[in-house]
Amino acid sequence: MSRPAVPPAVHDALVLEPRDVQFDWAALPLHWIPDEPMATHTINVLHLLLPEGERWFVEVFKDALPLITDDQLREEVLGFIGQEAIHAEAHQEVLDHLLGQGLDPRPYVRQVSWLFQRILGPRAGQSPLQQREYLIERVAFVAAIEHFTAFLGNWVLNSPGLDRAKADPTMLDLLRWHGAEEVEHRSVAYDLMVHLDPGYLRRLRGMAISGPTLVHLWIRGVRFLLAADPSLRGSIRPTWREAQRIARRGLLPEPARALRSALRYFRPSYHPTQEGSSSQALAYLATSPAARAAAH
Ligand SMILES: [Fe+2]
Ligand SMILES: [Fe+2]
Repeated sequence: MSRPAVPPAVHDALVLEPRDVQFDWAALPLHWIPDEPMATHTINVLHLLLPEGERWFVEVFKDALPLITDDQLREEVLGFIGQEAIHAEAHQEVLDHLLGQGLDPRPYVRQVSWLFQRILGPRAGQSPLQQREYLIERVAFVAAIEHFTAFLGNWVLNSPGLDRAKADPTMLDLLRWHGAEEVEHRSVAYDLMVHLDPGYLRRLRGMAISGPTLVHLWIRGVRFLLAADPSLRGSIRPTWREAQRIARRGLLPEPARALRSALRYFRPSYHPTQEGSSSQALAYLATSPAARAAAH
């Protein structure tokens, strides 16, 4: 049950503070990266997945609290729960705004809700041992997904292409505030998984199931949004070639880079602190308009 070897300073310094941010979406254009509907909707998939997904993270981690025997880790998990709960609500507001603009996200969100609540939700009739096993398995899914959220967070903090394309500044702040908190808390789910089960097989299975599921959900989400967009009426069909063109312009992460990042998760010596920069994340949070407003 020991925790992996990581620089002690990283953990001594990790005090996760939920920042109660507010965003005003009244002026957000439907294509908030001007003239880039596919890039806009590829990133918009986050708003479809995260409210349901992050509420589920919170439920799983609350259930895991009684199993934690390390005081520092418990504090980190509580901070993680606080941050993810606010993330879910912030993305929910964007979904509500999309509906107001004539793009109804509810059919897709119902499918996401079914996945997290029915397939991955609480199960009746389990023995205490089965309950513990099912809980740790779900923590391993969260740990693998958090590898991607940290990857995306690190990407969006280092994506001048979005600024060059004149992406909406409020949406950029939402993405970078959220991305910075993902980088900030990137080790918590992984450390919780290792605390509950240090076995390599658990880590491997978590990524082997979550990785392809996430890619599948993302592709479906992009197709759904492009078809549901009232200004496009299905006129744009997403292709890998187009995704790569957009990535080369710096508006999306390169798919090959995302794949290489996922493969690093399988290295025996992997730890999330090897990815991204906490000091860069904290530097953004010190200047983020929403995070600064929340601090007052
Ligand atoms: Fe989050
Ligand atoms: Fe997260």
